[in-house]
Amino acid sequence: MIPELLKTNLEKRVADAVTNREAAVDTMKELQRHYGWLTDEALEEAAQLLGLSPLQVEELATFYEMIYRRPVAPRIVHVCDSISCWASGGETLLKSLTQLLEIEPGSTTADGAITLLPCSCLGNCGEAPCMMIGEKQYGRMTPEAGAEIVAAVRDASPGS
Ligand code: FES
Repeated sequence: MIPELLKTNLEKRVADAVTNREAAVDTMKELQRHYGWLTDEALEEAAQLLGLSPLQVEELATFYEMIYRRPVAPRIVHVCDSISCWASGGETLLKSLTQLLEIEPGSTTADGAITLLPCSCLGNCGEAPCMMIGEKQYGRMTPEAGAEIVAAVRDASPGS
């Protein structure tokens, strides 16, 4: 269950939105921040806050790739696999990160520190290939630069 302060805050944000659906992503992201991912409980709470059915929220949640319906690590490395990045070395970047982290794309490292996820276009095609960690984007990635950034993020992860 979310804290009363967060609930009140989200109720206000939903009330201020032109439509409840408009507030859906914001609401899901806040609940995800609280729980670490959009748990079934969070999905039910989002539905209540938004006045939508759980199924409607589920549909919205599965549409947005930055909403996670299964557990993820505190640090998520998104590697763009859309066309500009793919054609500019994105595939090599992703492969090098799977080797560095010793996981397959879509998985979490054994220590639970990092989840590696391929993703759709990050809107930064001019700097392909790109990746994103948290809210920060990194462009013109080489496998070496990507490995350096991911290693630094891993070292800074909680519990490392
Ligand atoms: S294709 Fe990768 S940022 Fe657009």
